[in-house]
Amino acid sequence: MAAAQRLKDRVALVTGGAQGIGAAIARRLAEEGARVVIGDVDDAKAKTTAREIGGETLRVDIADDTTVTALAQAIDKAHGRLDILVNNAAILDATPFDELTMTRFAKVLDINLKGALAVTLATAPLLRKATKGGRVLNIASIMGVRGSVASLAYSTAKGGLVNMTRCLACDLAPDRITANALCPGFINTRMALLPDGSGHEHETDWFKDIYLKYGRIPVGRAGLPEDIAGPAYFLVSDDAAYVTGQVLLVDGGVSATF
Ligand SMILES: NC(=O)c1ccc[n+]([C@@H]2O[C@H](COP(=O)([O-])OP(=O)(O)OC[C@H]3O[C@@H](n4cnc5c(N)ncnc54)[C@H](O)[C@@H]3O)[C@@H](O)[C@H]2O)c1
Repeated sequence: MAAAQRLKDRVALVTGGAQGIGAAIARRLAEEGARVVIGDVDDAKAKTTAREIGGETLRVDIADDTTVTALAQAIDKAHGRLDILVNNAAILDATPFDELTMTRFAKVLDINLKGALAVTLATAPLLRKATKGGRVLNIASIMGVRGSVASLAYSTAKGGLVNMTRCLACDLAPDRITANALCPGFINTRMALLPDGSGHEHETDWFKDIYLKYGRIPVGRAGLPEDIAGPAYFLVSDDAAYVTGQVLLVDGGVSATF
């Protein structure tokens, strides 16, 4: 079904939009009429996705200031403004506590926390020129509002992103820019592959037992990238003009149980 084109001609940047959740968000924004720029370190995959959704690509490593500055300059040159920024790019880290090094911790924070800030700072002048008020949407995680084993670096970065969202909402409100965060739960993407290469998290016995059989996911299934795209669309739409500094958990109800 064709979408209603409620973002017609808005300029949207989705970092990490080559695949997974970012690609689903990019597709949804494009269906709503936005001119979508996918900024991803994986340029080949980004180009394939951009072709499919009718968007464009700019290669960026969000942890590398030089490429982030170039990204903002290229958007300025091509469009002269940015209406929507989705800070989605991130890496997974599941290092056990005893194996965690400060080098690894810094790397995860460089991408998952500082990277989002770097893109926001670089594009803020363009967001101030947004047609109907700019939108920043940070893709955090339920792991940014809960603790778990072997997740210290990832969860700390995502927790930082959650509170960074609230600060951005305060700092950017005078410029008619909202900032919100989405916290996905278990979503079926590449990130759900087990780090040791032994399979898929959602196919493991512990996932099937704890989260499905014993009901820790009340809706009874893992999520799809499209489950995140709808709430993401809402938060960057005109309907969310009075929503800022908020953190929406999109997790099939995982965080509602104990
Ligand atoms: N999949 C899940 O279960 C889940 C749950 C909670 C939160 N999230 C969050 O959702 C977002 C998307 O995750 P996903 O599951 O789609 O992951 P994914 O690995 O499928 O996609 C991530 C994308 O980000 C890009 N990327 C990684 N590092 C980058 C960098 N330095 N610069 C630019 N691009 C970079 C990758 O190339 C890839 O295209 C992430 O922020 C992730 O933390 C995912």
